Amino acid sequence: MKRIVILISGRGSNMEALLRAERAGELPGAQIVAVLANTPEAKGLSIAAAAGIATQVVDHRAYSERSAFDAALLAAVQAHAPDLVVLAGFMRILPETFVQCFAGRLLNIHPSLLPAFPGLHTHRRALEEGVRIHGCTVHFVTPALDRGPIVIQAAVPVQDDDDEDRLAARVLAEEHRIYPLAVRWFVEGHVLADGNVALRAKKPSQTREAHPAALIVPTP
Ligand code: GRF
Repeated sequence: MKRIVILISGRGSNMEALLRAERAGELPGAQIVAVLANTPEAKGLSIAAAAGIATQVVDHRAYSERSAFDAALLAAVQAHAPDLVVLAGFMRILPETFVQCFAGRLLNIHPSLLPAFPGLHTHRRALEEGVRIHGCTVHFVTPALDRGPIVIQAAVPVQDDDDEDRLAARVLAEEHRIYPLAVRWFVEGHVLADGNVALRAKKPSQTREAHPAALIVPTP
């Protein structure tokens, strides 16, 4: 079984989508072994606990030095011996040591079509820029923020009467669809990070094939 650790900071709806996928048998060969948060206020913690998943808080406010928090978080994640670490709304920037430690087995979901709108307030910025297509991206994490190899993207058309909340809700629904898919691909060995791109391998050891990044455009 591939061991998955999920890191959250808040609501945890992507984490919940992954738990749902696991329960529905959509993540064969994988087990979500723990959910960690950097704050006890993360609402997702109670959802994970109710689902019988081990939860743990490494509270960043309990450490006066950033490096001490970083070390504690790394140790806490490593203690679960994960094959895959999944960032699901984790709002702390991970240090390079963490990223290197889990290189090639660290995924993030970002609420924009990267490389457009890295960082925060993606939906507001998309509306301000007047883009007609927005969306979300699952990517491998590298030291460059929101710049790792793209595994899958979902496109969400912007509607004329959209506001930030309406657009965010439609993007979130797509996030819940593509994150379990990306995790499944990873667990099955169908996707791996190679430099700037994510590659598809039929079996991990076999010849690599085409770029697997999929753009899913929902039917209106
Ligand atoms: C999502 O929009 C995700 O893309 C971003 O943070 C948000 C987390 O939401 N990284 P949730 O905690 O998964 O509900």
